[in-house]
Amino acid sequence: MNNAELTALRAGNVPRGVPATAPVYVARAKNALVTDVEGREYVDFAAGIGVMNVGHCHPKVVEAVKAQADLYSHTCFGLVGYESYLRLAEKLNQHAPGDSAKRTFFVNSGAEAVENAVKVARYATGRKSIIAFEDGFHGRTFMTLSLTSQVSPYKIGFGPYASDIYRIPYAYCYRCPLALTYPACGCECANLLQNAFDKHVGAEDVAAVIAEPVQGEGGFIVPPPEYMGRIKKICEDHGILLIADEIQTGMGRTGKWFAMEHWGVAPDLMTTAKALGAGFPLAGVTGRQDIMDTVHPSGVGTTYGGNPTACRAGLAVFDIIEGEGLLERATVLGDRIRSRFKALQKHYPVIGDVRGIGAMAAIELVEDPETKKPAGDLAKAFRAALYANGVINVGAGTYHNVVRVLVPLTIEDDTLARGLDIVEETFAQVSASPAGS
Ligand SMILES: Cc1ncc(COP(=O)(O)O)c(C=O)c1O
Repeated sequence: MNNAELTALRAGNVPRGVPATAPVYVARAKNALVTDVEGREYVDFAAGIGVMNVGHCHPKVVEAVKAQADLYSHTCFGLVGYESYLRLAEKLNQHAPGDSAKRTFFVNSGAEAVENAVKVARYATGRKSIIAFEDGFHGRTFMTLSLTSQVSPYKIGFGPYASDIYRIPYAYCYRCPLALTYPACGCECANLLQNAFDKHVGAEDVAAVIAEPVQGEGGFIVPPPEYMGRIKKICEDHGILLIADEIQTGMGRTGKWFAMEHWGVAPDLMTTAKALGAGFPLAGVTGRQDIMDTVHPSGVGTTYGGNPTACRAGLAVFDIIEGEGLLERATVLGDRIRSRFKALQKHYPVIGDVRGIGAMAAIELVEDPETKKPAGDLAKAFRAALYANGVINVGAGTYHNVVRVLVPLTIEDDTLARGLDIVEETFAQVSASPAGS
């Protein structure tokens, strides 16, 4: 079937609530190239939203998965254990930031990992409240949707939401919540957490603060160097746990195993998913042993969590990131992408901000660089044209005006250059009045 026929099949069978960015259906994919059912090739600048860090069909992942499929596909870890679960837990415990002893258990999706991190935090502290951030994203189940900030399309019409969740502004420097400028501001926004204890919820009721070290869905918002340390210190002063949601930022994406390392902060609990399983549903909750082991036996768990095939894929991912120097590569790729974007910004003032860290790179589009009015329509047109020109891409931002790049960390130089050339040509195509040309 061709793309049009599959689009019709979809329309007749799948509800419209399921996202559909472009009428493109995959036939096969290899590293950073995706070929559709009509034989058209696309450069993959989305990597399945930060999942395929080691590229599509990496031979080591394929080999591990095939070998596992021949042995057994499911026992339920709680009934009959297997070594790959234990080895992968060991890997995460070794690589998670901080020196304290760690423990890890597995679930199926990012949202499920966040749900469980909240359960553990509440259990361990005996407190009920959670503080999350504006522009944060933690998933679409009810607890995680309650933590998620963005209203449209995620929250609108789905309430009521979980109680005892409070939200404070994040360190979004381009749109500073306090209308200050870094570094003169002294990172004042970190004090909004302290402020919340007077205005929203008593500190002694707060189990955890949950933060993405770099906000993903929010638009690749990177806080200043001192921010996370300040947040952690305030948490510690009040016996509050810090949960790092590393679902999008983890597994080498930012040039470190986990993004919190950039801030020198060891979270008490950490969630992983996406790139951990290289496309096989897998998510983890990793945390300090003294916290994780408070929960009574069978207090957490799930039928499929830590599925054997996904765990084998996860072990291959660790092996590939280590063996192919992908942490260093993430930094090189991100610098290269951002420098091309910065060059583009000189010609197009509607590119209000170029930002990111490691291989998270984004542009935020505005109608006017002075007013910073979000240019959501331009972003939409740009993204559609990118698809039409052969680049798979993903948007972001509360105002839908951010285009983020999440290339596989294994992308070849020439494929990256090809994708970036298309980005430049496409931007010229969609922006009516480029300044300076
Ligand atoms: C930071 C973060 N947390 C949680 C999630 C939810 O993960 P999942 O879609 O696997 O439930 C996502 C997904 O984009 C995410 O980026």
